[in-house]
Amino acid sequence: MLQLVYISSVARAADLASILAVSRINNRRDGISGLLYSDGVRFLQALEGPTLAVETAYARIKQDPRHNALVILSRREVATREFGDWAMAERRVGEEGDQFCARIDRLLANTGPNVRATFDSFIKLRRAA
Ligand SMILES: Cc1cc2nc3c(=O)[nH]c(=O)nc-3n(C[C@H](O)[C@H](O)[C@H](O)COP(=O)(O)O)c2cc1C
Repeated sequence: MLQLVYISSVARAADLASILAVSRINNRRDGISGLLYSDGVRFLQALEGPTLAVETAYARIKQDPRHNALVILSRREVATREFGDWAMAERRVGEEGDQFCARIDRLLANTGPNVRATFDSFIKLRRAA
């Protein structure tokens, strides 16, 4: 199974709800799970599932004009899913920064140390900005 993590820049005010709606349908169909995080400036996404399915989804996502400057941070084979269900991490209205970080920590509980560190540092950095 392939796990891919990339970061990108938000190109224009992207409607996260519509990205998520399409992703949920497609990813369920294709056996892909993962996590999509956005702070409005960057996207950080992990995709995992059958290698061909992840490569195909990434090829589609890469062409999406709602973001640009995609950089793959990690590409590795994993024996089991580390992200569990497909999830989108977005800071909810009224949610404290600490609550948000705690929620992300739960989502990342089973990921490998490098991937967890990538998400952790990105999220804490953005929070501090
Ligand atoms: C940041 C970002 C993340 C995305 N993540 C996914 C995803 O995980 N799965 C997916 O199918 N599409 C994702 N998309 C949408 C794809 O780029 C594309 O619009 C969609 O897959 C097209 O699906 P359709 O052919 O069923 O309309 C994402 C788009 C963006 C901008």
